Amino acid sequence: MARRPLIAGNWKMNGLLADSLADTLATLMRKKQDWPFEMVVCPPFTLLHYLGKTIAGSGIALGAQDCHIKESGAHTGDISPLMLKDVGCTYVILGHSERRMDHGEGDSLIMAKAKAALAAGLKVILCIGETEAERDSGKTLEVNQTQLKGSMPVEVEAADTDLVIAYEPVWAIGTGRTPTDREIQEVHAFIRKELIALIGTAADSVRLLYGGSMKPGNAGGILALPDVDGGLIGGASLKAEDFWAIAQQSPAL
Ligand code: PGA
Repeated sequence: MARRPLIAGNWKMNGLLADSLADTLATLMRKKQDWPFEMVVCPPFTLLHYLGKTIAGSGIALGAQDCHIKESGAHTGDISPLMLKDVGCTYVILGHSERRMDHGEGDSLIMAKAKAALAAGLKVILCIGETEAERDSGKTLEVNQTQLKGSMPVEVEAADTDLVIAYEPVWAIGTGRTPTDREIQEVHAFIRKELIALIGTAADSVRLLYGGSMKPGNAGGILALPDVDGGLIGGASLKAEDFWAIAQQSPAL
């Protein structure tokens, strides 16, 4: 079945109100029509409201980079899925390797967050990926299998359309290094096979994104791979022109 490519920008901890990033992006995107792909931008929490207003009507969706498992309550410093919906988000990134490392997030917490986000009506971009040491010791597929099984909520009915998996080799994030196209396809085909085992035919419509040093110069080859349905883009999403140049290399449906 045809899966509409998703081009997602992860701004991480970058961007201030005074920056012109949001405005540049919105201006650029408003000029475009009839995209064969979907776009989402995930700024830090502090910019969600502003960016949501700036990109309204541009065709770009708004997403966040994390959420809590509860709707509200005594959780100092946390943001709930309901709050993300309230501010206009339709997506949330969960299980990013930087959260796994910086905040010690494990698979079971990530699964709980994914369940809470889906229950609140958000779409989830669930990240998995091996470290360099794991790849070097031949454990790439095993690590991705463990993370997928451990963090993906399989019983969710809307799993096929609301769940997106992002394969992000940790060693490729922000480093300028990427796996070869053949290595990316190998992992994506493996993830698709694992998804079929977990959720059956619904796996056919789950989009699998590649993330890690995706740039205008390498996006074409990666996005054309049969089991790659878009990208999760960090550094290059901070330049509106580069982000758009990557999106334009999505294959037509
Ligand atoms: P990068 O980040 O494109 O800067 O490598 C990707 C990500 O971490 O989502």
